[in-house]
Amino acid sequence: MDALRHRPSSSALPASAVADADPLGDDVAVALHTLYELHYRGFPDVDPEWEWNPELLRFRAAVERVFLDALRSGVDGGADVEGVLDELLVEHVPGSGVSHHLRDEGDWDQMREYFAHRSIYHHKEADPHAWVIPRLRGQAKASLVAVEFDEFGGGRGSRMHSQLYVDLLVAAGMSGEYLHYFDDVPAPAIALVNMMSLFGLHRNLRGSLVGHFAAAEITTAPSARRMAAALDRLEAPAACTLFFTEHIEADAVHEQIMRRDVIGDLLDREPELREDVVFGVQATELLEARLADQLLSSWGSGESSLRTRRRWLVSQNG
Ligand SMILES: [Fe+2]
Ligand SMILES: [Fe+2]
Repeated sequence: MDALRHRPSSSALPASAVADADPLGDDVAVALHTLYELHYRGFPDVDPEWEWNPELLRFRAAVERVFLDALRSGVDGGADVEGVLDELLVEHVPGSGVSHHLRDEGDWDQMREYFAHRSIYHHKEADPHAWVIPRLRGQAKASLVAVEFDEFGGGRGSRMHSQLYVDLLVAAGMSGEYLHYFDDVPAPAIALVNMMSLFGLHRNLRGSLVGHFAAAEITTAPSARRMAAALDRLEAPAACTLFFTEHIEADAVHEQIMRRDVIGDLLDREPELREDVVFGVQATELLEARLADQLLSSWGSGESSLRTRRRWLVSQNG
């Protein structure tokens, strides 16, 4: 952060400090997110020339390495693409995920906390996946773009999923400002977005980006159905529910397109990417499970899942 406040220079950033950091902890999550943000919207007080500064990229590579190593060592791996995707569709009964909790017994405060965690991604919904477009060919490219077209509102700015999420936040009495809740959200939700940026920005992880995208589309429709039920039970404003009902139908279609046309065609062309696709699916599950643990264990002990309750309340009023 100190370095970014100054003009870009050729002095080295402290890459050696990265080795001691918790790869899935707050420091790595915040550092990586800050570095990647230079490729998205940047920061008002940071010189945009930093984006391609060689010393910054050297430092980012060191942070990426510890994060990627932790993801790789946290998953089983393998090359059974169909198997890992099918497994995502199995509903474990009784369901014990975050959306099950919110549907059955969550309160409005927990719902708003959940909105804050997910805002880190939904403010840039579908953006990280756009990086992969030039790395695909033929039907895989055409079909992935068809999914992205929907994510970006089918040509209508007001229907972009990122805009529907802003509408959701505002309807819930929260701030719709870009990354407003970043400082309130602990590592797990940030790490998920970092994973997408990592997969999107590295051509050699294109299979993992596609695997991640398919996993997200497959799991969204059932969880969106539970979220819509939760919001009905809590009598939430219609704009909150719309974001999820929009995803129930859209993602049932997206799931099919991602599996058959994107992954199918990609692996026909490049069968050696099977393990990368599996890794993308499993890394998504790993980080989603960490987020679910963090939310449910906080709520289970009667606490807020955000960094500090106080700051959260202040920012709601601000
Ligand atoms: Fe979406
Ligand atoms: Fe989708």
